[in-house]
Amino acid sequence: MTEPRHSNPSGSKPALAKELENKIRSRRAQVGIVGLGYVGLPLAVELAGAGFHVTGFDVSQAKTERVNLADSYVGDVSSEALAPLVESGNLRATTDFSVIQELDTINICVPTPLRKTKDPDMSYIQAACQEIAKYFHPGMLIILESTTYPGTTDEVLLPMLAQPGMEVGRDFFLCFSPERVDPGNPQFQTSNIPKVVGGTTPVCTELGRLFYSQALQKVVPVSSTRVAEMVKLLENTFRMINIGLVNEIALMCDRIGINVWEVIDAAATKPFGFMPFYPGPGLGGHCIPIDPFYLSWKTKQAGIEARFIELAGYINGQMPHFVVDKVRDALNGVAKPVRGSRIHIMGVAYKRNIDDVRESPALDVMLLLRRLGATVSYSDPHVPSLHLEGGNVVAQPEEAAAAADCVVIITDHSTFNYKALVERAVLIVDTRNALKGIVSEKIVRL
Ligand SMILES: NC(=O)c1ccc[n+]([C@@H]2O[C@H](COP(=O)([O-])OP(=O)(O)OC[C@H]3O[C@@H](n4cnc5c(N)ncnc54)[C@H](O)[C@@H]3O)[C@@H](O)[C@H]2O)c1
Repeated sequence: MTEPRHSNPSGSKPALAKELENKIRSRRAQVGIVGLGYVGLPLAVELAGAGFHVTGFDVSQAKTERVNLADSYVGDVSSEALAPLVESGNLRATTDFSVIQELDTINICVPTPLRKTKDPDMSYIQAACQEIAKYFHPGMLIILESTTYPGTTDEVLLPMLAQPGMEVGRDFFLCFSPERVDPGNPQFQTSNIPKVVGGTTPVCTELGRLFYSQALQKVVPVSSTRVAEMVKLLENTFRMINIGLVNEIALMCDRIGINVWEVIDAAATKPFGFMPFYPGPGLGGHCIPIDPFYLSWKTKQAGIEARFIELAGYINGQMPHFVVDKVRDALNGVAKPVRGSRIHIMGVAYKRNIDDVRESPALDVMLLLRRLGATVSYSDPHVPSLHLEGGNVVAQPEEAAAAADCVVIITDHSTFNYKALVERAVLIVDTRNALKGIVSEKIVRL
């Protein structure tokens, strides 16, 4: 494969860049989003709402059909928001990647999980990029949004896209822009979360900035794809390590008999130099437990051990075990062994008010309790059923807590009736301080 060349950053704007700029400014640019999940679908909606013709691509036919029926499967996108965009023809979805040949821009929003060995799994990005490369043509702007290690855009995507004689920044344009969406957050959504973007060349960055600024409130250009990739990893590593720290503080407070929640609330009154993080049953979701390991994998190759990441990963990984110990102690206090006890979990999503169970610590807690011989049930208004080792488990109504020997609050959904829960349960382990302010001997707090 020929080495892709980069355009001279000080030169005048290339003709294809000017052409694309005009299409973006006039919203005539044909936009594609590859991967219509928690990240891709909200982005498609914002861009279609800004007046672009958007085509969403997914390998899941079920998802593309639902988009075309304006039937949303993503919590932050209502079907009512999809309907006018689908009816006007501004948003359509397909599994047919040949449509890419008609497009001017593509955002890649596919999963980036870890392999069992905790190495990055780049197979989704590579598969998406292979499809794009088949139908790629001069003048296109490609933006990777999937969270990944620094260097991915220039080292993995660029060689896959650049055809002999094609120069990035002159014949086509490449950027990385980290997605920062926070599912279930009513205040910050795709449109008002500032968008960082870095291109392979300054012309690429400028086109990326122009593109997003048509639909999003604030765009933050940075000097390279690597900086943009690292921004996301800093943000998520910061969160993961601070959660690890506060989880360790919670373990310490538990050992010496101090209420960690009261400590955090009082510390948070300091108007500078402190930011509250809260302990919990462990990390979940597609980002915080995973992304920092993309960074540690990359830096290990450069001879740097990411010791903070490894340590926080270890402490956070211990939290489901700590919760199980709490349950065991609580049951001991009423002279019941875990074996044979009925334990009811409140909330299995990885965080409040969402339906996502990926990496949820509830799954670990449920499995650990089962292995100790307990019978485990759950309630979660957002998760009607759950796949657990050995088959599917169906959600129970909240009233089922009354029949349990111990209830464990794992996810503090706001729709749960906590007052009724305290009345009906005989014993509660609260891992989220959801019962803050309620005084009862039934309650054991993390
Ligand atoms: N969910 C979040 O809160 C969040 C936040 C910030 C960043 N991210 C990052 O964004 C990326 C996407 O995450 P997500 O939560 O939207 O994942 P998701 O699983 O919800 O969606 C990804 C979609 O891509 C589709 N897909 C897989 N391979 C494909 C291919 N080759 N071609 C087309 N479609 C394909 C899947 O079917 C799925 O619909 C990840 O890198 C993630 O780390 C996620």
